[in-house]
Amino acid sequence: MAEEPVNVNEFQELARRALRKMYFDFYNGGAEDQHTLKENEEAFHRITFRPRVLVDVSRINMSTTILGYPTSAPIMIAPTGMHKLAHPEGEVATARAAAACNSIMVMSFSSTCTVEEVASSCNAVRFFQIYVFKRRDLTAMVVQRAERCGFKAIIFTVDAPRIGRREADIKNRMIAPQLKNFEGLLSTEVASDKGSNLAASAAARLDPSVCWKDIEWLRSITSLPILIKGVLTAEDATKAMEVGVAGIVVSNHGARQLDYSPATITVLEEVVRAVGAKIPVLVDGGVRRGTDIFKALALGAKAVLIGRPVLYGLAAKGEHGVRQVMEMLKNELELTMALSGCPTLKDITRSHVRTEHDRLN
Ligand code: FNR
Repeated sequence: MAEEPVNVNEFQELARRALRKMYFDFYNGGAEDQHTLKENEEAFHRITFRPRVLVDVSRINMSTTILGYPTSAPIMIAPTGMHKLAHPEGEVATARAAAACNSIMVMSFSSTCTVEEVASSCNAVRFFQIYVFKRRDLTAMVVQRAERCGFKAIIFTVDAPRIGRREADIKNRMIAPQLKNFEGLLSTEVASDKGSNLAASAAARLDPSVCWKDIEWLRSITSLPILIKGVLTAEDATKAMEVGVAGIVVSNHGARQLDYSPATITVLEEVVRAVGAKIPVLVDGGVRRGTDIFKALALGAKAVLIGRPVLYGLAAKGEHGVRQVMEMLKNELELTMALSGCPTLKDITRSHVRTEHDRLN
C-alpha cells in the first residue's frame, strides 16, 4: 500500500499514479514555458517570518467570514474544471468534502456535474464561477440556475478572454468532456483533429469582447454579489472598485493563461493597497502550505483559494482526499499561527513577514 501523505504536495504523486497521463497533465500544467507556474510557489518560499514569542497561544481561532458567510478557516476551494476526470463523483465529492470541513467551495462554470446536483448533495456554502460565452443567453441561464439553487455569489473570471497556450494539452490532444450545465445546448463537434480539443472548444465559445461595462450586464441578470477573479494590478483593482464589485481574487489562473504574469503573492499587497479595506481581497496560486496561507493573510488577503491540491486529493482518494488536503492546510495554518505568536487571524499583521521588497528597502 502507498504511504499516507503527510503534506499536500505528496498528493501530486498519488494523483499522477491514479490518473491517465492526459488528465494529470491537464491538471498539472501551466502555459508555455511554465515560468509563472514555478514562480507561484517559489515566490512564497522567498518570504520569511518575523515571529513573536511569549504570546499565549493555548487557543488558536482560525474561523472567519467571507461576504458574511462563516467558515472554519480562511481557506476556500478554487474553481477548477472537470472534476469527473479526477473521480467518478466529480464536483459532488468536492462539495461534500467542503461541507465536511466547513469550507466554502467555488464551483467552476466548466463542471462535469450540474449546479443542481451539487446543490442537492450537501449544505456547503457555495459560490459559482463564470465565464462569458458568446452565447450570453447560456451564461445567463446557468447563473440564474445557480442563484435559484442557493449559490451565494458569482465569481467572474476575467483573465480568460481566450484560453492560454497549454502545451501538454496540445501534445496530448486533450479531449474536453461535456460541460454538464449545458448538456444538449452546446455543439460537441467543435473538436479539432490536431492539438487540444479543449482549447478549440474554448476558442469557439468564449467571448473575447467582454469588458468592464459587462459587469453592468451581469448585474442585470443576477442579484448575487459579483467578485472578479484574475486581477494582478492596482490599476485594475481601482477599476473594479469603481464598477462596484463585492470582492477581488488576485489570481493568474494557476499560471495557465499569460505566462510571465507575476506570482500572485508578489502583487497581492499592491492590490490590497489600491482597495483599502473596502472589499475583501482573496488570492490563489501556488498555496501549498499553512505557512503560505499565513503569508498571504499577513500581506492583506482575507482568504486563499486552493486549486491543484484539491484536484490531486480528489484523484487520489475522492471526497476523503479533498477533505484530507483541506484539513492538512488548516492544521498547518494553526501551527504557524501558534509558532508566530498569533492566536487569532486579527493578530496576523504585515510586520509578521519579510518580503524580498522589504529586504531591498
Ligand atoms: C483552473 N482554474 C480555473 N479558474 C476558473 O476561474 N475557472 C475554471 O474553470 C478553472 N479551471 C481550472 C482547471 C485546472 C485544472 C486548474 C489547475 C485551474 C484556476 C483556479 O481557479 C485557480 O486560480 C488556480 O488553480 C490556483 O492555483 P493553484 O492552487 O492550482 O496553484
